[in-house]
Amino acid sequence: MVNIGILGVGTVGTSVANILEANGDIIEARAGKKIIAKAGVVKNLSKDRAVSIKLSDNPSDIIDDPEIDIVVELMGGVEEPYELVKRALSNGKAVVTANKALLAYHRYELQELAGDIPFMYEASTAGGIPVIGALRSGLSANHIESMQGIMNGTCNYMLTKMINEGANYDDILKEAQELGYAEADPTFDVGGFDASHKLLILASIAYGIDAKPEDILIEGIENITQTDVAFAKEFGYEIKLLGIAKKVEEGIELRVHSTMIPQSSMIAKVDGVMNAVTVVGDRVGETMYYGAGAGGDATASAVIADIVDIVRGNREPMLGYKEGFQSNLKLLSRDEIVTHYYLRLMVDDQSGVLASITSTLGKFGISIESMLQKPTNDDDIAKLLFTTHICQESKMQDAIKALSALSVVHGDIAMMRIEK
Ligand code: HSE
Repeated sequence: MVNIGILGVGTVGTSVANILEANGDIIEARAGKKIIAKAGVVKNLSKDRAVSIKLSDNPSDIIDDPEIDIVVELMGGVEEPYELVKRALSNGKAVVTANKALLAYHRYELQELAGDIPFMYEASTAGGIPVIGALRSGLSANHIESMQGIMNGTCNYMLTKMINEGANYDDILKEAQELGYAEADPTFDVGGFDASHKLLILASIAYGIDAKPEDILIEGIENITQTDVAFAKEFGYEIKLLGIAKKVEEGIELRVHSTMIPQSSMIAKVDGVMNAVTVVGDRVGETMYYGAGAGGDATASAVIADIVDIVRGNREPMLGYKEGFQSNLKLLSRDEIVTHYYLRLMVDDQSGVLASITSTLGKFGISIESMLQKPTNDDDIAKLLFTTHICQESKMQDAIKALSALSVVHGDIAMMRIEK
């Protein structure tokens, strides 16, 4: 028999305890041993919870209990779970976590501390989708060329509603919160931070790259308007919040931002709260992983898969590489990113304006690919919408500054990156 202790018995923790009981037969058949949720730790003992396990509000009741074999950390946050997980590891207990923020900041320290003690985290990225297992094991023969992920269900739900139903941003955010997908602080979702944590976890396995959220480009979906949605439709694009990892000659690009992608691509068809990750390996080609990225049972499904793996004796290296491996791949800076761009700007509707815009872009070597002009409520002002051929991010940022300084340009210039 294997005893589990759960730190944090919220939605996912409750599902873990309940699935271990309800699906105990198949889980035992697969793991080779009976797995029992022995105890849980919660902050507030007076809150009603739909579980029958013994609860306490003292983490030591799990971490220091010699009968607990595996500690499942589902608390959220960073520093408190970090301290508790370190204590669990130093007590020799295997750890399973769904905590992406903990891993975004401390995965390398935890890997070192864990050593030979199993440390698994499938549920941290894209909930119930077994993409970490796929990257760490299934694709281990490959150099990973690129990854694109829809890894935040809240943003995908909101964008789908904005695109398909013309929904208003604030209303739809409220709906996503009511459905229970959004983080306690939704800026974590809509600002792209949640997706960035997941991207960094995947990038460690794919490339052996040790990066923190502050090292990469992170933008959210806050500035998308119905004008952008209409433009995207007209030019054959979907808008998605993507986590992107790309191996290029100079190194690795890691970035999270709202992105226009061709409507014909597989990932463009992933709607609502669903998550998907495409991984391109140099030998296998494109692979895609799709499913529920959040929710109690889906996330618990991944947590229990890790527990089963540990009970079976699986001892894969935590981040997928043998001890001592050092990646020689360089993480490119934001300025070095190269991609296509979409720009939206308000300009005076008069002769010569287009020429001054195109010549300003030309000064930075930026070439326009397509363009649309739309009237506004003001007869003297027009909206200009462009896409560009590929150019370097630093050039685009400089060009936006130069365009903003033109007297014929009004207000902020909106920009979105395009991946083809
Ligand atoms: N807030 C996250 C989402 C939950 O919307 O996908 C899973 O990490």
